[in-house]
Amino acid sequence: MCGIVGIIGNEEAAPLIVEALKRLEYRGYDSAGIATLHDGQIDRRRAPGKLRNLGALLGKDPLPGVIGIGHTRWATHGAPTENNAHPHASDSVAVVHNGIIENFRELRDELTAKGHVFATETDTEVTVHLVTENLRRGMDPVAAAQAAVKRFDGAFALVIMFRGDEDLLIGTRRGSPLAVGYGDGEMYFGSDAFALAPFTNRVTYLEEGDLAVLRRSGATIFDVKDNRVERPIVLTQAGAALVDKGNHRHFMAKEIYEQPEVLGHTVHAYVNGVTESVALPKSSIDWSAVTKLTMVACGTSSIATNIAQYWFEQLAQLPSGTDIASEFRYRDTVLIPGGVSLFVSQSGETADTLAALKHARAAGQKIASVVNVAESSMARESDAVYPTHAGPEIGVASTKAFVCQLGVLASLAIAAGRARGVLPRDAEIRLTRRLLEMPRLIGEALKQEEIIASIAQEIAKARDVLFMGRGLSYPIAMEGALKLKEISYIHAEGYAAGELKHGPIALIDENVPVIVIAPHDALFEKTISNMQEVMARGGKVLLISDKRGHELAGDNVWMRIEIPECDPVFAPLVSAVPVQLLAYYTALAKGTDVDQPRNLAKSVTVE
Ligand code: F6R
Repeated sequence: MCGIVGIIGNEEAAPLIVEALKRLEYRGYDSAGIATLHDGQIDRRRAPGKLRNLGALLGKDPLPGVIGIGHTRWATHGAPTENNAHPHASDSVAVVHNGIIENFRELRDELTAKGHVFATETDTEVTVHLVTENLRRGMDPVAAAQAAVKRFDGAFALVIMFRGDEDLLIGTRRGSPLAVGYGDGEMYFGSDAFALAPFTNRVTYLEEGDLAVLRRSGATIFDVKDNRVERPIVLTQAGAALVDKGNHRHFMAKEIYEQPEVLGHTVHAYVNGVTESVALPKSSIDWSAVTKLTMVACGTSSIATNIAQYWFEQLAQLPSGTDIASEFRYRDTVLIPGGVSLFVSQSGETADTLAALKHARAAGQKIASVVNVAESSMARESDAVYPTHAGPEIGVASTKAFVCQLGVLASLAIAAGRARGVLPRDAEIRLTRRLLEMPRLIGEALKQEEIIASIAQEIAKARDVLFMGRGLSYPIAMEGALKLKEISYIHAEGYAAGELKHGPIALIDENVPVIVIAPHDALFEKTISNMQEVMARGGKVLLISDKRGHELAGDNVWMRIEIPECDPVFAPLVSAVPVQLLAYYTALAKGTDVDQPRNLAKSVTVE
């Protein structure tokens, strides 16, 4: 899962490629590299680590040439070293690759037997040697690429540059996205339109199995059967400006603070404050007739679906289930006729979620998606798209996209309840009013920043942390643990409060802080009983609750964070804020790389 770029231009390509790679660093930042042709020969610069390392290298040792390819890597096969960094090259071709060539061992053995010498531990290198082998056997570049691609199993997007031809790049995709950009006498490849936005807003999204041959004069596209095809050129809305951090130290902090605003935009796109009703974008999905809702996502987006399941059951009495995308399609999930499968994703590109979407479509389900990137693959492949309006989310840890997903999912549940005739009009009025209040209440929750920052100093000393909650607060416990793990590297787990006594309570001692999320709702007393069980065993409790909850919970808790009182149905939107801030300040206390934590990438485009 990586970002790839190709440019056939008229000015120095390397600085332009670096610009585009900056916009693709969300796809991985383990290493970066560029190859260009000058005097017809392939030359490369590669550096491990963040893109700035490559920038520094190019500053010392520039790379001339008006045609080039670039890559930012999230390592799959082979450590993130300079040697394993893309582009990979032979004396005749250079290749950048996003995805995994699953049958690389078999191909490597075959090519090794033919005398090819492999220099890296990557799966990608077989692409270089196979195209080179085909060229040696007398094929022209297009035939060599087409023949090679047919041998690959797995998901990939590839861009190939050929020695001696400064007017040719070949790109192909299967499973991983690739876009073609049209300039004025210049042509581009990019993993997404956002990467190409500084150069052009005219793009073609290649379809599954397409292979595009780029020359300065334009693109020739072949489909999976090598037939010439026309693909539409669309005007992308992707903005050319790179988002900055404003007055914040990190994108994550900026994004946490943007939540009242972007949730406001999102909710207002669905809820009409005048009629106090929810209106969904027109689509072929009739929510009154849905037999079952299957929600599928990964990571934080999946936690949003866990919360939504409560809403769809409670507000719409709609049989609902949630699944982790990487598991969903490998089980014999029963997808019943008339069912809708709903995919939730910030990026709209997550490989597991996208594959699950295709699986559900093949099983005859209607496909709906909640995505933040309007032009993403998931949006393009859905019968109904329900966008979040969070704006670009740059911090690897998802915050504002999550809260906006909740805003959309809550709106959907209300609309489904209404359509199914189970949510009375007065309930819709009450719920829409309350939902419209949530941006303000999130603003209130953000005011606890100072106290959370000081609590984080204590949490930072822990090696393990447990989060617990019941009902709608259980997924927030999981989200708190996920956020803390990914950016502070402290081991954390989120549990259903009632489940602790079935095993995890054995972990409790004075060194394991237990963070209890318990707004004053119908399950409050039960959660507090579970909290008492923890304290009775010497556990130190940080209680996140509202004013009433804190009054009722007693005095013995270790520390407290207060959240504003709100309708219990929407409490997850406010309880998300303290767990995000706690993870953020704990990471600051530990000095980790908040926006680009180790081993992660913003968009996970490999299975
Ligand atoms: C965690 C996080 C990830 C993503 C997950 C899905 O903070 O950001 O767990 O939520 O990788 O990504 P999307 O939503 O783009 O499908």
